[in-house]
Amino acid sequence: MARILLGVSGGIAAYKALELVRLATGAGHAVRVVQSPNSRRFVGEASFAALSGAPVLMSEFERDPARGAFPDQEPPSHDPLSHLELVANADVFLIAPASANTIAKLAAGLADNLLCSCALAAGCPVVLAPAMNNRMYEHPATVANLRTLAERGVRIVEPGVGRLASKGEQGIGRLAEPEALLSACDAALAGRGVEAPVGEMAGLCVLIGAGGTREPIDSVRFIGNSSSGRMGFALAQAAQRRGAHVTLVAANVALETPVGVERRDVASAGELKDACEAAFAECDVLLMAAAVADFTPAEPANGKIKKADRELLEIVLRPTADVLEGLAAQRRPGQTLVGFAAEHGAEAVEIARGKLAGKDLDALVVNDISRADIGFEVDANEVTILSADGGRRDVPRASKAHVAEAILDTVLELRASR
Ligand code: CTP
Repeated sequence: MARILLGVSGGIAAYKALELVRLATGAGHAVRVVQSPNSRRFVGEASFAALSGAPVLMSEFERDPARGAFPDQEPPSHDPLSHLELVANADVFLIAPASANTIAKLAAGLADNLLCSCALAAGCPVVLAPAMNNRMYEHPATVANLRTLAERGVRIVEPGVGRLASKGEQGIGRLAEPEALLSACDAALAGRGVEAPVGEMAGLCVLIGAGGTREPIDSVRFIGNSSSGRMGFALAQAAQRRGAHVTLVAANVALETPVGVERRDVASAGELKDACEAAFAECDVLLMAAAVADFTPAEPANGKIKKADRELLEIVLRPTADVLEGLAAQRRPGQTLVGFAAEHGAEAVEIARGKLAGKDLDALVVNDISRADIGFEVDANEVTILSADGGRRDVPRASKAHVAEAILDTVLELRASR
């Protein structure tokens, strides 16, 4: 039996918190509930009070009839400060649903309501379950805030993918199911950390190459490309969410690392090759979304080349090793290798078929770079996924997060069909 302090913030998913209280009390836990003012617009205190068997609080200035005690405790003789007493008595503080606003406040250390004050004063493990619209969840501000909280030791229970509250909307952002929330509390209580997500990629190691390499010309200049790394990062996040252990080799990417993903930063094609080779033997799936330079300056200058030095500057380039081809040559049975190809115009698919066979891959993701509305530096993509068994899947224009899901679906289908 444990004492669970449940913080409910504003969001439609607040109704699921009622089921959580029912489950937790049914399992023998003592529960107290604090609500943010906005959560009252979704679910009233009477339901939480009835299910928890204890008063529900919203404000630091409200008198707590139970004086901070949980249902299994005798209230103290004095009137304590409720935010301090509640967290002092709690074994775990679960915030579910955690709205984007509450997450932002917690990341900033604000304490403008009882829920936030409790979080700031909590010495016990804090478990946080985000729930919101997918665009809000994927906004860089929310991603950064969750990362900050995770770095401070807050255990994040990832939201699920599926139908969202607003009509016709699909995506990431559904509050995790009450059973998963309760087992996250159990794991926190047992000091085990949140249990590894049990998704369809659980137990798989996924290695992802993302971003664009830079080949030094001198100490300040380089030959680069316009890959932002968004596609590779979307894949990393999606695979992690499906339960995979993800290693992300990032070449010059200015994006936040998805929570739970192991990141290795590299700059040049040579560094990318070394980092990928070091992790390849362990991986089950390789997704090579990086834009790797095919040529590198043969002799980068030490220091900065001065314009006065030459009238005509010639840079001699030598070919780099093909990282993907090199890894494919060392592949062991059971590994799934996916390449990416940016091709121009009508022959894109035909050229890509040749690359798929030439590099000994299981699948190749092709996008048409003659179009400005997809691909590099935009958050949308439209791809064709070709597989070595002759399969073809056209993924219509969608966010890179959505395209990532389609790529992972293909990977799992290919692995299942072996
Ligand atoms: N790739 C790689 N190492 C390289 C070049 C490419 O690992 N030096 C990988 C890319 O990450 C991608 C796939 O190979 O997954 C296809 O890349 P692409 O540049 O389209 O193919 P190339 O074989 O370099 O052909 P092209 O002549 O069209 O550049």
